[in-house]
Amino acid sequence: MTYTTTHKTTVTTNTLRQHKKNQQRFSCISLYDAQTSAIAAQQDIETVLVGDSLGMTIQGHGSTLPVTMEHMVYHTAAVARGNNTSLLIADMPFMSYSTPEQAMANAALLVQAGAHMVKLEGGAWLQETITQLTERGIPVCAHLGLTPQSVNKFGGYKVQGRGDEQADIILQDAKRIEAAGADLLVLECVPRPLAKKITETLAIPTIGIGAGKHTDAQVLVVNDLIGLTEKPPKFSKNFLNEAGSIPAAFKAFDDQVKSGEFPDESHSFT
Ligand code: KIV
Repeated sequence: MTYTTTHKTTVTTNTLRQHKKNQQRFSCISLYDAQTSAIAAQQDIETVLVGDSLGMTIQGHGSTLPVTMEHMVYHTAAVARGNNTSLLIADMPFMSYSTPEQAMANAALLVQAGAHMVKLEGGAWLQETITQLTERGIPVCAHLGLTPQSVNKFGGYKVQGRGDEQADIILQDAKRIEAAGADLLVLECVPRPLAKKITETLAIPTIGIGAGKHTDAQVLVVNDLIGLTEKPPKFSKNFLNEAGSIPAAFKAFDDQVKSGEFPDESHSFT
C-alpha cells in the first residue's frame, strides 16, 4: 500500500534531532506565500514557519494580535502548496490555544491545511496543552523569551530573561515544555548566554532569533532577510544586498547560519 500525505516533507522532527546530535546547525525562514516557500525548498532550507508576524508584514498591523485562525489556515495552505521538502511549522494565533480543547481543534485545522508542526507561545501554563497535542500526533514548537502575543503584558517589544531570576524562569519553562513533549523551541530576544545554556540543557533543538549564535538553528522573517522592512530589528540582516537575488539571499542566510558567521555579536543581546 502506498500512503499519500496531505503535505510531503523530506525533513522531519527526527532529522532535526539528528542535526542537533551531530552539532549541525539548520535554518528556518518565516514566510507566508507559495513562491517564497518554493524558493526555500529549492535552497534546501530545512524548516519554514508560517509566522503570525504576517499581522505586521502582510496586513500592516502594529502587532500579531489581530491575526485569526482563518488567516493562518489561508497562508499555511499557500506555503504548503509551494514546498514538498521543508518541515512546515504554523503559528497558532493569539487566543487560539487558551484551553487544551481549543488548541486541539485549531491545531487540527492547521495540520489539515498542510502544517507538520504547530507553534505556541508560552511556558509552564502550556504543559498540558503540549502533552495533549503531542499524544494526539501533532508535533509542537514552543516559543519563549519575547513572545510577541504578550506585547501588552511586556509593555513593548523588549529583550526578556535579563538578570538571574528572569533567566531562571525561562530556563525552567524550557525544561517543562521539553518534558511535556515539545519537539522544538524558538527563543526570541534573550541574552546570548541564556540561549546557550538552554540549548546545552535541552535534547530538543532550539531555534534562535535575537538569541545569539549558540542555538541549534536560526530563524529570520523573510521581509527582514530581503530588506523590505523599513526599520529592521537589530537581530536581523539584509542578505539581499550582497546576494543580488532572493534565491541567493536565502542561500547566503543558510550558508552563514551553518558556518556560524550569522548571527554575530552585532545581532545579539547580552
Ligand atoms: O511570527 C513569526 O514570524 C515568528 C518568528 C519571528 C519566530 O514567530
